[in-house]
Amino acid sequence: MAPRSVQLRCPAKLNLFLEVLRRRPDGYHELSTVMVPISLFDTLTVREAKKFSLEVDGPPLPGTNTVEKAYRAVAKRRKIPGVRATLAKGIPAGSGMGGGSSDAAAMIEALDRLFDLGLDRHEVAAEIGSDVNFFLERGPALCTGRGEKIAPIRSGPELHAVVLWPGFGLSTAAVYGRVRDFLTPSPRVVIDFLNSFGQEGPEGLGKALFNRLESPAFALHPELSALRMRMAETLPCGARMTGSGSALYGLCASGAEARRLAQRIRRELAGFVAPVGLMTREGWWRSRKSGSS
Ligand code: C5P
Repeated sequence: MAPRSVQLRCPAKLNLFLEVLRRRPDGYHELSTVMVPISLFDTLTVREAKKFSLEVDGPPLPGTNTVEKAYRAVAKRRKIPGVRATLAKGIPAGSGMGGGSSDAAAMIEALDRLFDLGLDRHEVAAEIGSDVNFFLERGPALCTGRGEKIAPIRSGPELHAVVLWPGFGLSTAAVYGRVRDFLTPSPRVVIDFLNSFGQEGPEGLGKALFNRLESPAFALHPELSALRMRMAETLPCGARMTGSGSALYGLCASGAEARRLAQRIRRELAGFVAPVGLMTREGWWRSRKSGSS
């Protein structure tokens, strides 16, 4: 009998708003962040096998892969067979676009579907990383706590963006490690951003984009700050960093504009450049592939 398999696309994300409220006693930071999945993907294929194996198509990833962590976390909870997993990387690692977290969420979903486990997927996800829960939710969301508490939000007009990854990654822990110097007594509230997000096109929304982690990331890598300024000169709605970096992005009014400006940025600046669409809940579903072979 042919082995059963599941193939899932794992989207990247952008943080359109990210405020750090305070450091918690457990060492993590309390956040208020709006995350949106984008049309830049890894692809994970999982099939039943005698033992666990993982093949990564792309540059080797640092540390234990989150796909393996997800397998081990599920195997701790349920008796499951081995699997052969293949991961085709399209999302740069260490970019703040959540590739590792998205891969882990896809692995949890793949195992749950392959072996019909009836998992509490969120409970497994929270063990692997702060952003993994978001990728189980399938759409724009306000994320709080250390990022793992998810409230879906309504999107407004269609949005596109150009993403630039400068060719080096940042350590999330190192960026959070420097944030204390940049916290303010009255943190920014997310409500104004949410109002903008539900109603405004890229120009209005561009002014509301915010990321508290830019300051510590730019302190660690001043060249990122210069790159952001160069991007903001080319893109119509400014440029921001996503998550803990190092990727930068700027909003565009249409897919055609994003493709045109991506070409221009590719000529002017070094790094990986991609035009992307910001995904709605419906868009997420259209983007997911699954099948058996
Ligand atoms: O949860 P995750 O493993 O992705 O976090 C990586 C590191 O980033 C943590 O060890 C912590 O240093 C930092 N972090 C944080 N506050 C958060 C999320 C991450 O301090 N809300």
